[in-house]
Amino acid sequence: MINSLSIDQFASILHENVSPTAPIQSQEHLFGREKQLQQVQQALYAPGRTVFIYGDRGVGKTSLAQTVAYAHQSSKHDPILLACDPDSTFVGTMASALEQINHPSAQGTITSIYAAKVGVKGFGLDVSKTLHQDAPPKAESMASLNDVVGALIKAAAERKNEDTVIVVDEFDRISNDVEKGQFADFIKQIGDQRIPMRFVFCGVAESLQTLLGAHASCYRYIENVELRTLNWDARFEIIDNVASAFNVTLEGRSRYRIAAISDGFPHYIHRLCEHLLWAMFRDEREVDHSTIDHFRIAVAQSVLGIEQHLKHTYDQAVMKDAHGYEHVLWAVADHSDLFRNTEAIYTSYCDLIKSFDGQAEILDRPTVVSRLSALKRRPSGNILMSPRKGFYQFRESIMRGYIRLRAEEQGCELALDYAAPSRPSTDLTWRIRPARRGNFGTVAGDRRKLEYPE
Ligand SMILES: Nc1ncnc2c1ncn2[C@@H]1O[C@H](COP(=O)(O)OP(=O)(O)OP(=O)(O)O)[C@@H](O)[C@H]1O
Ligand SMILES: [Mg+2]
Repeated sequence: MINSLSIDQFASILHENVSPTAPIQSQEHLFGREKQLQQVQQALYAPGRTVFIYGDRGVGKTSLAQTVAYAHQSSKHDPILLACDPDSTFVGTMASALEQINHPSAQGTITSIYAAKVGVKGFGLDVSKTLHQDAPPKAESMASLNDVVGALIKAAAERKNEDTVIVVDEFDRISNDVEKGQFADFIKQIGDQRIPMRFVFCGVAESLQTLLGAHASCYRYIENVELRTLNWDARFEIIDNVASAFNVTLEGRSRYRIAAISDGFPHYIHRLCEHLLWAMFRDEREVDHSTIDHFRIAVAQSVLGIEQHLKHTYDQAVMKDAHGYEHVLWAVADHSDLFRNTEAIYTSYCDLIKSFDGQAEILDRPTVVSRLSALKRRPSGNILMSPRKGFYQFRESIMRGYIRLRAEEQGCELALDYAAPSRPSTDLTWRIRPARRGNFGTVAGDRRKLEYPE
């Protein structure tokens, strides 16, 4: 129990402060993005400038885009939120945008462009037949581009040119490069024809490259905003914000482990905090601080609920666990460096086997290297890739947090390259590995210091 709250009161406070699945839409809940918020806000004031937010999957692109969209949008309407899918076309996307402008009641929810089989007759643009066509001939696409520009200018005039923000999310999911290229032409036209609306695109880095590659001068019209994983301060801010909403204290080591496991991907922080608070709420005693047992429950429940795609890839990769694949994978995830060489991975491997399971056989280095090679191949879900010979990284950065979570569930703490903030709790029920000397002057084994990178 927490503060004698009823379950409804508890859940309502909890979900005001954690959101593992829905994007953030207000500045008050968006942590660690002050610089990027400022950059996007400034760009939105510049006529003809289009914003492109790019970064790894799950890093927080949609949250930044929607937060700035709500902040900049005129108070008379909600921003237009669109999500692309593999079949989305340029004209179909714009038809969806115009449909939402035309019918404001449909606003506030994300429109899947695939579903938007509509003619936007109010703006003299009927695109119902062109939503999912294959690459159209160039002349036809240019005609469509001019139609779209004309329709948007007309729509803006009808709104008396109030601030309108259109978010085009998941741009990378569009499979057709010709369609992506049409957006490059369009972005130039937003500037050249002074379309009085602001566009914010979100996608992975490669999709921005495709966009820029399609139109040599496009880069002048785009404000690139790169999003990286959250720094340690922001991770702790999310955790502390939830704790203070309930006026409870989180046990120091759990707080640190949540930040370390997350690897800077906010989804893991929200999910672990959600389950930690539930574990405290379900405790028969009235509690105002968490224990390591609450944390263990939170870890186990988080593993259960996490995205199937990550679980599937992990299970595929460690299928041959009898041969030590799982521990090799843990070793790769054991440090904050994204690219790790075989030597560093092997050091992590020996270290974690010795401290986690003193009885286990330690594989020799050539065997670990052969496991690493196997983990790059299809039968292992291509979970790893090699940016260059002898170096390894996860194909998807968000996977590293998931691996840390799975290891934690089995009692093995990874990512101890920074010292923990406090001494180990006396009620710990699983073995702690000593923190190694990190890059930040931390003394190995000294858990009293909290030193973490920017
Ligand atoms: N700066 C932040 N502070 C707190 N929570 C955040 C922040 N950014 C994102 N989140 C949370 O992290 C989760 C993932 O964020 P979001 O959906 O914005 O990421 P994304 O990069 O758009 O992901 P995807 O690549 O899957 O589309 C969301 O549940 C959101 O609530
Ligand atoms: Mg997103």
